[in-house]
Amino acid sequence: MKLQFIPVETKEQICLLASLADKVWHEFFPGIITVEQVDYMVERFQSEKALTKQITKEGYDYFLLELNSISIGYVGIHIEEDTKKLFLSKLYLLKSYRGKGYASQTFEFLKGIATAYQLKVIYLTVNRGNGHSVDVYKNWGFVTVKEEAADIGNGFVMDDYIMEYAL
Ligand SMILES: CC(C)(COP(=O)(O)OP(=O)(O)OC[C@H]1O[C@@H](n2cnc3c(N)ncnc32)[C@H](O)[C@@H]1OP(=O)(O)O)[C@@H](O)C(=O)NCCC(=O)NCCS
Repeated sequence: MKLQFIPVETKEQICLLASLADKVWHEFFPGIITVEQVDYMVERFQSEKALTKQITKEGYDYFLLELNSISIGYVGIHIEEDTKKLFLSKLYLLKSYRGKGYASQTFEFLKGIATAYQLKVIYLTVNRGNGHSVDVYKNWGFVTVKEEAADIGNGFVMDDYIMEYAL
């Protein structure tokens, strides 16, 4: 089935996005990071307040991934016209919708945006313990360019790979 990509603009959409993020992150991340770290990261990066700031002040674009008007996930990006890069900040699907080709449809959508802006690279960070996502990104043609340990405050660290896809 074909996904619809709905730009997140209104307060209602931001609320919906925040509750979706809360659900997906708590469904997915425990096992890779502690529940305490998930709680902290959701509040810091994906709460209604944090998302509003990212969207209205920091140039992030979020899209709800919809199937028959049901939100099954979301994607967040930042277009960097100066460096000609698209930062793929967030890509999350609800568990029951994984493994069905929706992530690849989303990647095609993102490549379309990057091409429209004449960008050269799509890049992302991914937790080093997130093996499935790393495999998916490699399958799409991403390569690991760096490893980093990002201090995200409160004593928490994200052990990430930085991966790039050349357009
Ligand atoms: C990451 C995520 C969006 C990927 O979506 P998904 O539905 O699981 O991805 P799929 O299983 O459909 O795989 C996507 C592609 O990678 C391929 N792939 C999957 N696992 C693979 C593997 N181990 N080796 C090689 N290719 C693989 C699939 O065949 C598919 O390619 P295709 O569309 O050309 O057939 C999803 O798993 C998710 O939301 N995970 C939880 C949150 C998360 O980790 N987000 C990323 C944070 S950086």
